[in-house]
Amino acid sequence: MIEIQYSNKIQISNLTLINSPSWFVHPTYSSDVLIHGLTILAPIDSPNTDGIDPDSCTNTRIEDCFVVSGDDCIAVKSGWDQYGIKFGMPTRHLIIRRLTCISPDSATIALGSEMSGGIQDVRAEDITAINTQSGIRIKTAIGRVAYVKDIYVRRMTLTTMKWVFWMSGSYNQHPDTNFDPKAFPEIKGINYRDIVATNVTGAARLEGIAQDHFTGICISNVTISLSKTPKELQWNCTNIAGVTSNVTPEPCHLLPKKEKVDCAFPEDRLPIEDVHLKTCCTTKTA
Ligand SMILES: *[C@@H]1O[C@H](CO)[C@@H](O)[C@H](O)[C@H]1NC(C)=O
Ligand SMILES: *[C@@H]1O[C@H](CO)[C@@H](O)[C@H](O)[C@H]1NC(C)=O
Ligand SMILES: *[C@@H]1O[C@H](CO)[C@@H](O)[C@H](O)[C@H]1NC(C)=O
Ligand SMILES: *[C@@H]1O[C@H](CO)[C@@H](O)[C@H](O)[C@H]1NC(C)=O
Repeated sequence: MIEIQYSNKIQISNLTLINSPSWFVHPTYSSDVLIHGLTILAPIDSPNTDGIDPDSCTNTRIEDCFVVSGDDCIAVKSGWDQYGIKFGMPTRHLIIRRLTCISPDSATIALGSEMSGGIQDVRAEDITAINTQSGIRIKTAIGRVAYVKDIYVRRMTLTTMKWVFWMSGSYNQHPDTNFDPKAFPEIKGINYRDIVATNVTGAARLEGIAQDHFTGICISNVTISLSKTPKELQWNCTNIAGVTSNVTPEPCHLLPKKEKVDCAFPEDRLPIEDVHLKTCCTTKTA
């Protein structure tokens, strides 16, 4: 519905957007992007109606948005397979605050699946989701290359979720058959803390790649209460490594418990945090 490319110092604020035919707000190859106070509404069974998709953007701040969608409420992207690799433009320095999401078949915040330019330094906090498939989901596959790293999430309140945490290393959609079957993505430095989730079917499905484990996963201070019909295997972990601290239910053995670990969340401020919102106005005619 709104697509902006190759632009700097963009503000999109105080709009209600309804029934986009595809992704709603798609800033691409841009920097210094402020997205504030959007209400985004699509039928929960509509395909490809992502809410906000920062794509190969640097310095983006998304605050106070409410999204109801049939697809991911926010999907962070940076190009697809060999095309994204060739273009080589990451999404970096992204802040997401005070997001409320309803999306029964998709993620509150997805990282990927198009991540072939790389995704680095994403900071999300004060996130609420209701009746949503997953909290944070990383989607990647062999052939996508690049990285998803230095991801920080804190203070999520989640109600009625299929999965709290989901990482997929076999998201095998490719634009064509020319992707490199020996090219592996690097997934590392993934930090989740201070999360309360209720009425959850499964705590985590964390699936790395056999030849390419996802590492540096840290999950701390997380309380998950299960639904009446929970999955038998609450933490389904393969080909991953990391630590947990103060997490219930009991995590998988690939995420061993450590005493008193608080997973990282950066304390420095990004330049985009100090940019003030402008009040938009229409031109007054005489
Ligand atoms: C809990 O989740 C189930 C789906 O797993 C849903 O049908 C039910 O309404 C939810 N209960 C509450 C109290 O939200
Ligand atoms: C744990 O998370 C809860 C919920 O976000 C928060 O209220 C509490 O302060 C956190 N505890 C610690 C020790 O950080
Ligand atoms: C665990 O996850 C894998 C994918 O990573 C899936 O194939 C398998 O069926 C899951 N196991 C259970 C018991 O849910
Ligand atoms: C958005 O709307 C609120 C409420 O009407 C108003 O206070 C605020 O100034 C608006 N923000 C912008 C950036 O226009």
